[in-house]
Amino acid sequence: MSTSAPSHNQLDTKAEAWSALFSEPMSDLVKRYTSSVFFDKRMWQADIQGSLAHAEMLSAQKIIGADDFASIQKGMAQITSEIEAGSFEWKLDLEDVHLNIEARLTALVGDAGKRLHTGRSRNDQVATDVRLWLRGEIDLIEGLLKELQLSLVEVAAKNVDVILPGFTHLQVAQPVSFGHHMLAYVEMFKRDAERMLDVRKRVNVLPLGSAALAGTTYPLDRERVAKTLGMEGVSQNSLDGVSDRDFAIEFTAAASLCMVHVSRLSEELIIWMSQNFGFIKIADRFTTGSSIMPQKKNPDVPELARGKTGRVVGHLMGLITLMKGQPLAYNKDNQEDKEPLFDTV
Ligand code: ARG
Repeated sequence: MSTSAPSHNQLDTKAEAWSALFSEPMSDLVKRYTSSVFFDKRMWQADIQGSLAHAEMLSAQKIIGADDFASIQKGMAQITSEIEAGSFEWKLDLEDVHLNIEARLTALVGDAGKRLHTGRSRNDQVATDVRLWLRGEIDLIEGLLKELQLSLVEVAAKNVDVILPGFTHLQVAQPVSFGHHMLAYVEMFKRDAERMLDVRKRVNVLPLGSAALAGTTYPLDRERVAKTLGMEGVSQNSLDGVSDRDFAIEFTAAASLCMVHVSRLSEELIIWMSQNFGFIKIADRFTTGSSIMPQKKNPDVPELARGKTGRVVGHLMGLITLMKGQPLAYNKDNQEDKEPLFDTV
C-alpha cells in the first residue's frame, strides 16, 4: 500500500477512504486475502451500467449537477474503452471491481467521480451488479437451451422409425422409437428453460437505494433507476436487499437440475457407444483414443459433461451453506458468492 500522502483528487488506496481510527496500513496478507478484484472484475459492465443509471437519477433529482452527470458519463466511456482495450490497470490495493472503477473515474474527472457514490454503498452496489450480471447470463443460457431443444427435435425427426430397446432397471423392456427417446430430453430442457425464466423474475429486482443497510436520507428515485436498468421492481426492505443471495442460490439450483439432465443424456451416450451396446457411433472428432489399447474410442466429451455436473451441484451446496449462518445485514461472507456463481454459469 502506498504510504505517500493522499492525493486530493484520487482515491489511491482503501485506507484513505476510512476513518482516523486506522493508524497503520492493511497487511499485505490481509489485502490479498480480502480482495476480490481478480475475479469480480468480470462484472465490470454491470458495474458501469448500474453506476450510470444511479448517476442519471441523482442528476434528475438535482442531488448532483447535470455537469457532474456529464462528466461521469464521459469518464465511464473512457473506462469502458480502456477495459475493452485491455489497458485498464486493475489494482489489488483497491480490493474489488467497484473501488477500481470508482477510483479511475475520480482520477479522470475529479470530484464528479466522488459524487457518484452519493446515497449509495458498496453493499447495495454489489447486490445490484451481481443481479444485473446474472440476468444477462440467464438470457444467454435461455438462448442456448432453446438451441439445444431444436437440435434434439431435429435428431428426433430423423429417427422416428429407428427402433431401440426401451429400458427399465436397465433391462430390455419394450421397443421405442429413438425419436420418442430424444423428445424426452426436449421436455426436460424445456422445463429447465422455464425454471430459468422464473428465477429471472426474482433476480431482476433492484436493491440500489438500500445503501449500506438502512437506506439513505437522500431523495432517491429508485423506480426511475429500476426502469433505466430494465428491472421489474425495487426491493422492499433495505436489510434484505443488501444481504440475501437467495436469487443466486435459486439460479444454482435451477442450473443443477439442468446439469442433471445433461448428465443423464451424457450417461446414455456413453452406454450406447460402448461395444457391449453398440447403438450409436460418435464422430471421431468428438472422441479420443488410446495408443496402447487401439480398440478403444473414448467418449471424453459426455464424460466431462457428466463430471461437471458434480461441480455445479457442489456450488449449490456451497452457496446455500454460505447463507445459512449470516445475521442481517451484509457480511463479507457474501463476497464468496461470486466464484461458485461464475463457475456455475
Ligand atoms: N467486494 C465486496 C463483495 O463482493 C463488495 C462489498 C463490500 N462491502 C463492504 N462493506 N465491505 O461483497
